[in-house]
Amino acid sequence: MARPVRDGPRPVPGLRWMAVSSSTAVPSSATGPATPGPIAGGTADGPVALTSRAPHVPADRLVAEMVPPPRFGSVRFDNYIPDPNQPSQAQAVTTLGAFAAGLGGEAAAGTGRKRWFRREARPAAPTGPRGVYLDGGYGVGKTHLLASLWHATAAAPERKAFGTFVELTNLVGALGFQQTVQTLSGHKLLCIDEFELDDPGDTVLVSTLLGKLVDAGVALAATSNTLPGKLGEGRFAAADFLREIQGLSAHFHPLRIDGEDYRHRGLPQAPAPYDDDTVKRVAHDTDGASYDAFPDLLDHLSKVHPSRYGAMCDGIRAVCLTGVAPVPDQSTALRLVVLADRLYDREVPVLASGRPFDELFSEEMLNGGYRKKYFRAISRLTALARDGKGLAEG
Ligand SMILES: Nc1ncnc2c1ncn2[C@@H]1O[C@H](COP(=O)(O)OP(=O)(O)OP(=O)(O)O)[C@@H](O)[C@H]1O
Ligand SMILES: [Mg+2]
Repeated sequence: MARPVRDGPRPVPGLRWMAVSSSTAVPSSATGPATPGPIAGGTADGPVALTSRAPHVPADRLVAEMVPPPRFGSVRFDNYIPDPNQPSQAQAVTTLGAFAAGLGGEAAAGTGRKRWFRREARPAAPTGPRGVYLDGGYGVGKTHLLASLWHATAAAPERKAFGTFVELTNLVGALGFQQTVQTLSGHKLLCIDEFELDDPGDTVLVSTLLGKLVDAGVALAATSNTLPGKLGEGRFAAADFLREIQGLSAHFHPLRIDGEDYRHRGLPQAPAPYDDDTVKRVAHDTDGASYDAFPDLLDHLSKVHPSRYGAMCDGIRAVCLTGVAPVPDQSTALRLVVLADRLYDREVPVLASGRPFDELFSEEMLNGGYRKKYFRAISRLTALARDGKGLAEG
């Protein structure tokens, strides 16, 4: 089933691609062994190479994308099933429902009429922190709940924003600080998923930004695997930024969510890695698949800003990788974590040969300051590998 090799990646409608030179770009004359490159048949339905993509993302797209990602498009408080053995889960739904109601959300709608007649019964202005901070382990449903809060808040999508912490800092990078404050100040709610402080720059930037937004009356909600007071620990000299970190914590009321990783609750193990031929076959047989050699992809990630990894995955419906191996260093590992997050958000199944995903990160990495990110990435990639199983067997 040899197919002719094409010159470039298959273009995806609606997105501007900036071509980059890449060690994996396969010349049309290439006949050598499988360095995956963009291959397509006469039907133009072969796989694309992620390594051929370095999209330019305009600032207005970054703003427009501040909504829950596809995976969390239809989540609601109603379809969150609290674990009866973990009372904090049902409690979180109640607290967040009330929070949405306070912002004029779903639950408030039922009380509006009564209030019309009983003006004196209006609740007193809330005191204490205006924000809520969901803290808990991997896969306990924090993002599900945060997105449910976004959906339940009665405001037009342009007046409520949802993004990861990294996306928020990227937005500031693209728009500039003042413009970001101006853009978000008119919002009713800002939801920040995966709140984390990686360096002093972010710490100062975000503590100033959130202070201004809170002053402007924006309600905040965040999720994290780390309590606000412990942010930055093990990553930089967080003790030197106590003022900023304490200032940040003061905006939030922490809400702990206990439980096990829902992604793996009662589910079968992820499949063992496939052989190269299977990965190649699936890449060619699956519409919208990408096909890359893992080391080349890691190399490519270092040349594309992580804020563009999401756009890099536009239109991709399965990621096929050959030669997965432990990542060589921390910077590479952190970039891979961002890619895993974007694939997970977009529900893109992954099919790979080489080593299993739980061998990606070294012992040292798994014991270091970024360990939570690495464990989260393993959890997510394992879930995506399980989703990819159907493609290999189908
Ligand atoms: N109690 C629940 N009821 C229904 N679905 C759930 C529940 N908990 C989690 N899920 C689903 O499981 C998946 C993982 O949940 P989610 O991503 O919200 O976890 P998380 O706590 O944000 O994890 P992470 O720490 O990796 O960010 C999602 O698809 C979510 O919709
Ligand atoms: Mg999450």
